[in-house]
Amino acid sequence: MPSNPFTPTFGVTPPLLVGRQDEIDDFRFALQEGIGAPERMTLLTGMRGTGKTVLLTAYEDVARSEGWLVISETAEPGMIDRLTKTAVPGLLAEIDEQHEPRPDFRYRMNQLLDAIEPEDGVLISIDEIRGTEDFELLSHTVQHLRREERNVAFVGAGLPSSVQTVLSADRPTTYLRRADRRHLGMLEADEVRAALEVPILDAGRGIASDALDIAVEGTRGYPLMVQLVGFETWQASRDDNEITAEHAQQGVATAQRRIGELVHEPALADLFPATSSSRG
Ligand SMILES: Nc1ncnc2c1ncn2[C@@H]1O[C@H](COP(=O)(O)OP(=O)(O)OP(=O)(O)O)[C@@H](O)[C@H]1O
Ligand SMILES: [Mg+2]
Repeated sequence: MPSNPFTPTFGVTPPLLVGRQDEIDDFRFALQEGIGAPERMTLLTGMRGTGKTVLLTAYEDVARSEGWLVISETAEPGMIDRLTKTAVPGLLAEIDEQHEPRPDFRYRMNQLLDAIEPEDGVLISIDEIRGTEDFELLSHTVQHLRREERNVAFVGAGLPSSVQTVLSADRPTTYLRRADRRHLGMLEADEVRAALEVPILDAGRGIASDALDIAVEGTRGYPLMVQLVGFETWQASRDDNEITAEHAQQGVATAQRRIGELVHEPALADLFPATSSSRG
């Protein structure tokens, strides 16, 4: 029996990432374009489960494929310490075994940038950003490196409220205010259709067209729900080669019950009112 291809889990890249191609293309273009490209500074916002982390991962993959090094962190306490003592020295050691240890993030970054070819670059990707002292330090370092015309790019992601806090801080990181802002919203119905159908077919099962309609409708275009509906619909059809409308109804109903356990955000109440979970 083929295994379930869907990924109803935070931070896990879906089998098919839909509706984000413009973001990904713009970012690749910015890395190719040169140091002045606006998307080299990008801030992603979106409510829980809209795919911020997954898009950061896609950006990181783009950077690697363009020959850039990638430093990937979460803006938890101790971020700069981890970047300085682990992430940057780790990359440096891959390039050059003999480097002077000196615990300063900006110095480390300069060392790393000196060690790579001038046409290559370093992407710093930070998830769950919020207004911490560490994040401020990171922002200033990136700002300096950019001013020195270093090949660095920064992508950050966070909930709209956290990003707002960062941007309205006492000592505002002004340049971050000018960062390219991308708000991740709901997916279009045809995108959801592809996100559900392609992985199912790829994994060796069929889906009836009325079943697909029900599943697409049940997601309301919400990215996490796409994976959850896909997962539960697949589970409901466990013993069959073809997903039927009945399986889809069952899958949507289970997904609607589970979504509340996964996400506690008032905005979701409008998308999936509690009464709709009685469906199916
Ligand atoms: N474009 C997409 N197409 C299909 N599935 C997606 C897409 N974007 C995200 N998903 C799925 O939605 C779920 C949530 O994604 P992710 O963890 O990236 O959200 P997030 O915005 O980072 O959430 P949080 O605010 O809780 O950190 C995952 O299961 C992921 O596989
Ligand atoms: Mg996330």
